Amino acid sequence: MSELGRSLVPEYLKELKVYQAGKPIEEVAREKGLTQITKLASNENPLGPSPYAIREMTNGLWDLHRYPDMHAYQLKKSLCELYKLKPENIILGNGSEGIMAYIARAFLQPGDEVLTCDNTFVGFYILAKSVGANLITVPLTEDYRFDVEALAKSINKKTKAIYIANPNNPTGTYITKKEFDYLMSYVPDHVLVLLDEAYFEYAIQHDDYPDSMDYRYDNVITLRTFSKAYGLSGIRVGYGFAHEELIANLSKVKLPFEPNLIGQLGAKGALYDQPHLDRTIENNTKRYNETIAFLKEKKFDPIKSITNFITFKTPSLEAGDWLFENLLNHGVIIRSLMAHGMPSYVRVSLGTKEEMIHFFDAMEKVLPEFDKLFGRAN
Ligand SMILES: Cc1ncc(COP(=O)(O)O)c(C=O)c1O
Repeated sequence: MSELGRSLVPEYLKELKVYQAGKPIEEVAREKGLTQITKLASNENPLGPSPYAIREMTNGLWDLHRYPDMHAYQLKKSLCELYKLKPENIILGNGSEGIMAYIARAFLQPGDEVLTCDNTFVGFYILAKSVGANLITVPLTEDYRFDVEALAKSINKKTKAIYIANPNNPTGTYITKKEFDYLMSYVPDHVLVLLDEAYFEYAIQHDDYPDSMDYRYDNVITLRTFSKAYGLSGIRVGYGFAHEELIANLSKVKLPFEPNLIGQLGAKGALYDQPHLDRTIENNTKRYNETIAFLKEKKFDPIKSITNFITFKTPSLEAGDWLFENLLNHGVIIRSLMAHGMPSYVRVSLGTKEEMIHFFDAMEKVLPEFDKLFGRAN
């Protein structure tokens, strides 16, 4: 590191690694010389954006010489109608990760303790560490879920915030209503709880999933996104719900024109298209059942998920890497979970029927060698 870097970069930033996203389709096509690429690496909506969202965004192109409405009146109005809230309880940002960054900037200081579990959303670890917070993690339960008992026991005087991804990425598991109530009974009022519900629209299909809109805790911020079930990862719009005092303080550190004009329009359009969301959930449920059945038939033990992705264990770190690389050679991009602290596991997002057939075919092609190399009996 240069003299400048040594004096400029805080200690806690020096050790941080840059976030690794799923491999882009174009990059794999170029590197592998393939034309058919299926990306099942970033939990996107395989059906694409809603036509309503596209129409709104297209109309908006004519206004691109103007700054967007910094209060995002229309989008907030739609969210208020849907969730029966006041605009003062809503914050919008550049993806839900953008809002997480504002939370870190507004409320966390170097040395603050932030409590969460191992094997959760890596983006959050990076953001907490980037402001010098001290990340305290407890292991997931044996069935790969946030361990509410261990979290409750780990709360101490220094705990400033608790991060819960519900459902969790990369495991797809969730804490139930009962578990959420249990945890909240141990959380002091002055500790902030970040409830990351990026996969809410999938999860809410399950009865014992705790919809945070049914609760009113002054110290909970719920984060949701248009990147997943709404099929709008590309425009980067996320939203958060919380007590007006928290929102007012977050607004002080927020960049004024996020989300941008196209983001605001696309998100508003997407909210109007319930049939598109219904089709998305329906496709996901079918693909989930088929993929779980396929993986079990191939003697894997997939983790039960309530989201649009499935994680499964391979015999070792090398086996996981081998599977990732060899599926890539057949044009299928999945995710290896090294960065998530689960090096022998891989994660596959659920695509369209055709995309999953591509995945199944590629698996059929590579598994005989995989089994031989990694000693899996047949
Ligand atoms: C649990 C979780 N939270 C947040 C995000 C970030 O979503 P966004 O695109 O809204 O920033 C993701 C994306 O993968 C995620 O899995």
